[in-house]
Amino acid sequence: MTETMTAIAIEGGKGPAEALKAVQIARPEPGPGQILIKVHAAGINRPDILQRLGGYPPPPGAPDTMGLEVAGEVAALGPPSENGGAGRWKVGDKVCALLGGGGYAAYAVCDARHALPIPAGLDFIQAAGLPETVFTVYANVFEHGGLKAGETVLIHGATSGIGTTAIQMAKAAGAKVIATARGADKAAQAKALGADVSIDAKAADFAEVAKAEGGCDVVLDMVGGDYFSKDLDALKVGGRIVFIAALGGGEVPLQIFRIMQKRAVVTGSTLRPRDKDEKARLAAEVERVVWPWIAAGKVVPQVDATFPLEDAAGAHAHLENGDHLGKIILTVK
Ligand SMILES: NC(=O)c1ccc[n+]([C@@H]2O[C@H](COP(=O)([O-])OP(=O)(O)OC[C@H]3O[C@@H](n4cnc5c(N)ncnc54)[C@H](OP(=O)(O)O)[C@@H]3O)[C@@H](O)[C@H]2O)c1
Repeated sequence: MTETMTAIAIEGGKGPAEALKAVQIARPEPGPGQILIKVHAAGINRPDILQRLGGYPPPPGAPDTMGLEVAGEVAALGPPSENGGAGRWKVGDKVCALLGGGGYAAYAVCDARHALPIPAGLDFIQAAGLPETVFTVYANVFEHGGLKAGETVLIHGATSGIGTTAIQMAKAAGAKVIATARGADKAAQAKALGADVSIDAKAADFAEVAKAEGGCDVVLDMVGGDYFSKDLDALKVGGRIVFIAALGGGEVPLQIFRIMQKRAVVTGSTLRPRDKDEKARLAAEVERVVWPWIAAGKVVPQVDATFPLEDAAGAHAHLENGDHLGKIILTVK
């Protein structure tokens, strides 16, 4: 192993090409309870764009370099710790892992409990796109939203990394899926992925369609703005709206009586700032519930495009262009 490695740092202005630079930095050392991963592929996520623009700083202790998820091989084990986590792994194991940062790099370290075995049949590129989206969807749709078999979920941004994952996980759990995307082609892609009903949100009022379908028990919303009022319209009595972002606007009009009438729960969460024990708990749940869905072919990672690590700027530009279906992945030599 070399003592230095290539990683992608944020240096300079806000556009991808001016901001993202390949730099040589010291290879990280795994601390107690951590593993060192030789990265073969790293996932790109919308929160990375926010970080590049200065709006999503790494949590304390996380590397400044970019990247929230990787897949690769265990290259070294850190010293034992009281959580005993590193003991599960041996050098050479193929893993994917959730990171606080530093995934756009040749090597990355993580809490050993935040790594999971690569599901059988998946390659490094497919596996690299799993952790951030699967953990986020599991926590928000199934834990905070409490989605159960037989219920109906409304999923916005259906063709995003999150949306493609949420559609498949909700179907695997036995729920009915209503999906929205902006554009007829995207709506058709959502249907092909398994959505029972898919709506071009530019051409139709999704709340009217959802009501005609009997309403929704859970809404997964990354848009906010003028979607919030329609989410409430679409909701059944006792329904739950879960926010994971507010790409259409973070301030919304709220008529308290409408929440009371629906006995609605409006909630939301972020993944990155959760503490390491909470992420370890989530990882164990994801392995217990979601990994069997992947092994059974019910949840298939959707990879739209790959870019070499050194062209992280091209990958960001592709994501911001907004025509992708599923995930964009960096490949690392
Ligand atoms: N809270 C958390 O812990 C957490 C974790 C991971 C991701 N996220 C968030 O989840 C979202 C999806 O992440 P991703 O990585 O899957 O990103 P992505 O693939 O880039 O998807 C973004 C999606 O947002 C939709 N969108 C953007 N602006 C919109 C608007 N004004 N109105 C309606 N739809 C809009 C797009 O829908 P169309 O294609 O229909 O235009 C697109 O499908 C991001 O906002 C991200 O920050 C949150």
